[in-house]
Amino acid sequence: MIPELFEKMCAGYIRPSPEYERSIARGLVASDSAHELLTIDMHVRPNDRSAKPLLKRRSLSLLCVVAVLGGVPVWQAAALSRHKALPLPHPGAQLRAGLDVVRLNEQCESCHNEEAREWRGSKHQQAYQDPIFQAALELEPLPFCRGCHAPEAPAEVGDSEVPFRTQQQRDLGVGCVTCHVQVGQIVGPRSLLSQSHPTLGDARLSTAAACAGCHEFEFPKRQRVPMQSTLSEHAASPLADVSCQNCHMPVVEDGASDQPKQHRSHRFEVDDQLLRSALSVSAERAPNRAVSVTLTVTGAGHAVPTGDLFRRLEVRARSSGGALASPVGLERRFELVPSETGSERRQTGDERLVADGSPQTVWLPFGADVANDTLHVEVVYQRMSEGLAARLGVASDTNQQVIAEVLLPPLCAIKEP
Ligand code: HEC
Ligand code: HEC
Ligand code: HEC
Ligand code: HEC
Ligand code: HEC
Repeated sequence: MIPELFEKMCAGYIRPSPEYERSIARGLVASDSAHELLTIDMHVRPNDRSAKPLLKRRSLSLLCVVAVLGGVPVWQAAALSRHKALPLPHPGAQLRAGLDVVRLNEQCESCHNEEAREWRGSKHQQAYQDPIFQAALELEPLPFCRGCHAPEAPAEVGDSEVPFRTQQQRDLGVGCVTCHVQVGQIVGPRSLLSQSHPTLGDARLSTAAACAGCHEFEFPKRQRVPMQSTLSEHAASPLADVSCQNCHMPVVEDGASDQPKQHRSHRFEVDDQLLRSALSVSAERAPNRAVSVTLTVTGAGHAVPTGDLFRRLEVRARSSGGALASPVGLERRFELVPSETGSERRQTGDERLVADGSPQTVWLPFGADVANDTLHVEVVYQRMSEGLAARLGVASDTNQQVIAEVLLPPLCAIKEP
């Protein structure tokens, strides 16, 4: 056990039972019984405002669970309800009860080297420092943005109840603590007792619920469509039964360890390989000097592209003779309408590829006769339009990459001589 960490974290929340100490002496314990050996007590801190609503919810859900499960022993029902009352990772003020999250996060990193190394290079860790985010924040400096991009330092308020609101806290981005520390406890996908600390199991961490708080949300001023809708796209997709973690946290071998051991990657990387796996693409020559390109989402559990509102695909074609077809952008379209704060973006259309498995065809007309040329078709993924990238100072090779290519041979090559 790490006394200092434990003392701070558990400040009145977790009371390890005598059986807990005995189990620990025997080594790791992972099961429902681990859950039972931890008595979580939310009553003990009367001045902690954050514990109260939880307490209410807890007793409510306890009643519901007992009512629904009827015959289930009360202790199980209680464990279940306690489970449900735990908050999931979410934007905005976290219930930290005065924990020094920066130090705590360093402690997580010092023991969990593999996850730490991966997280250190991830977009989650960079969520606040990310130069693209910073450029966008400058254009639209709303406290709202920090809810998800700096969840450990959400708003610029002098709230004396929440100490340690510092630059370092902002720079944590989405930290270990954001996803794994709830109401003063370390939460993981399963309950586990170890020499170092108890882990309270919350099976929802292995489901989309772990991501929902930040990957589906409304515009700061609500409108007809959400600002990001990855969760509802996922729920409507034929791959709804495949978890986000399955595609975004693949099981990988520990790098440093001498014994073979595996863990779930914490890189959350959207790399070339993942992007290329999203679609299947075919192309053929069409009448009127055009080429038709058919795109189907086969490897993503949501629209492509999903996520940020400016993500887009551009389908391009060029001929070996140098002719260019007019490209087609598949993206969400917006208009700017006047508002009290200047102007705001309203969605007027959404041409991204839906994930329902249906093919979508686009036509690219060439201005010239290209029958005797090889045609080169490519699908380009762009973080944002080239215009916006220039405005935000995002270099072209950071902004875009080719994720599919098709070559069509010249028509004469297949003619009889
Ligand atoms: C002193 C070292 C140490 C510190 C500090 C520490 N851990 Fe752990 N943690 C362990 C050990 C040892 C285990 C047991 C399982 C293992 O060997 O990975 C464990 C287990 C876990 C598990 C469950 C793993 C599983 O297989 O289900 C999670 C999640 C976890 N820790 C997260 C954290 C977080 C988040 C922090 C910081 C708040 C933290 N740990 C701090 C050593 C540590
Ligand atoms: C409720 C959570 C949430 C809020 C609030 C939020 N974002 Fe984000 N933001 C995200 C998520 C999740 C992503 C990742 C999606 C992706 O990469 O496609 C993201 C991605 C971005 C990106 C893309 C970064 C890159 O590397 O390409 C920018 C820029 C951005 N957000 C700016 C903002 C700004 C500016 C605000 C405030 C007006 C804001 N966000 C508010 C969750 C949020
Ligand atoms: C964006 C949320 C998120 C962040 C940030 C995050 N984790 Fe996790 N972590 C998860 C989820 C979700 C799982 C469970 C995946 C599963 O098993 O389905 C997990 C699993 C784990 C496990 C269990 C063993 C494994 O890796 O499979 C450990 C240990 C762990 N995380 C430690 C950390 C540490 C340490 C950090 C910071 C360096 C961290 N996590 C940051 C979401 C996160
Ligand atoms: C506390 C909020 C939060 C939670 C919880 C969270 N994310 Fe994120 N995520 C973000 C933000 C913010 C970004 C964008 C960071 C940036 O680029 O500036 C992001 C980025 C990502 C990216 C990288 C996108 C890119 O453009 O490279 C992936 C993939 C991702 N998240 C998946 C997940 C999954 C899967 C989960 C659930 C296990 C999850 N996230 C949980 C806030 C969150
Ligand atoms: C079947 C695999 C699969 C599942 C399930 C899945 N994704 Fe993805 N995800 C992908 C692929 C492939 C891409 C790259 C194409 C794209 O950007 O849409 C991607 C991209 C992303 C991005 C980056 C978007 C961008 O371009 O910036 C985020 C964020 C993301 N996924 C979050 C999630 C979340 C949250 C869930 C669960 C609700 C989820 N994904 C479920 C495969 C998957």
